[in-house]
Amino acid sequence: MIHDPTQRIPWAKPAIDDAELNAVIDCMKSGWLSSGPRVAKFEQLMAQRAGRAFGIAVSNGTAALDLAIRVLNISAGDEVIVPAFSYIATASTVVMQGAIPIFCDIDRKNLCMDPASAAANISPRTKALICTDYGGNPCDFAGLMALADRHGLPLILDGAQSIGTLFRGKPALSYGLISTVSFHAAKTMTTVEGGMVFTDDEALARRMRIIRSQGEDPKRKYHHIELGHNFRMTELQAAIGLAQLGKLDSFLADRQKLAAQYRAGFAGMRIPSAIPDGLNSYFLFSVLIRNRDQIASRLMESGIETRICYPIPLYDQPILRKYKQRECQVAEETCASVLNLPMFFGISAEQQRRIIDELRNAMGELARSAA
Ligand SMILES: Cc1ncc(COP(=O)(O)O)c(C=O)c1O
Repeated sequence: MIHDPTQRIPWAKPAIDDAELNAVIDCMKSGWLSSGPRVAKFEQLMAQRAGRAFGIAVSNGTAALDLAIRVLNISAGDEVIVPAFSYIATASTVVMQGAIPIFCDIDRKNLCMDPASAAANISPRTKALICTDYGGNPCDFAGLMALADRHGLPLILDGAQSIGTLFRGKPALSYGLISTVSFHAAKTMTTVEGGMVFTDDEALARRMRIIRSQGEDPKRKYHHIELGHNFRMTELQAAIGLAQLGKLDSFLADRQKLAAQYRAGFAGMRIPSAIPDGLNSYFLFSVLIRNRDQIASRLMESGIETRICYPIPLYDQPILRKYKQRECQVAEETCASVLNLPMFFGISAEQQRRIIDELRNAMGELARSAA
């Protein structure tokens, strides 16, 4: 089939249709726009989906992590172990509390926190571990939970990318003392901006609700018992989230199909794999390749947008450099070679064929020109 090579394929695209449009209109007409019954329903349904007793909806995934760390009383001088390969918020929320991020390496197979590297970084000052399901690929929760239990430490899952991710048949979001998600517009399901915190601990959930809303005493209006934020989710966001939730299974099934086609098209190439008993939900589809930057530029020239999540280890970010203790070898190699290909609901077979062919061609040409 002849295609227009200038037709751009984005790396991500929200799946919005009449369901979201009508939900927003209904919400607008209801007159209740700030946090209300839709938020409460969204929390309840999301908590069920995450296999958790409580869900606390917030304004974004960074706010969700902030609440998780704050409610564990992590403060100045405390150490928190984080993977060197993740989004900035995994570590910046630690620093925001005055605590020290200690960077550990990732596992070459799933690109998530390596339990052995995390163990090697535990000190008497360690107060928590924060892991991430990179691109929707589950962490080794068995290894991480055993490590956390052995040292009596809380495990937080920064599950910004974990919607639909499973480990041993259970949602990844059900692991750890606290887990969080992001509903940013690029994510598998969205509320445009938004996030949620999950836990089974009632006292923690209660405190997170208080901090989310200016630290206000739930029984006494304008009486503030905690230093808080305004991290509340709006009814409009929850209305979109509820509409998206109704379609989540089809979003997830589509990603499995797309990932299988990519895997077949890229046979022989290095692609992260899921750990035994783990199900990757494929928020990202990643390949690990040489000449990554040149290949990304060539794909861009042919109208295929890609992402590099993430181009540098967290400890090389200007704001985090002072916390760098040592280099993490696997994180370094991954930052130099990872490329995330277009992944969104409704990529056509023709578009996916084009992505596979263009990537393979670019790799072949660069290899030949180097020979
Ligand atoms: C791993 C990870 N943590 C945290 C966040 C922050 O979420 P948000 O952008 O909703 O604040 C993201 C968002 O991309 C993420 O990917």
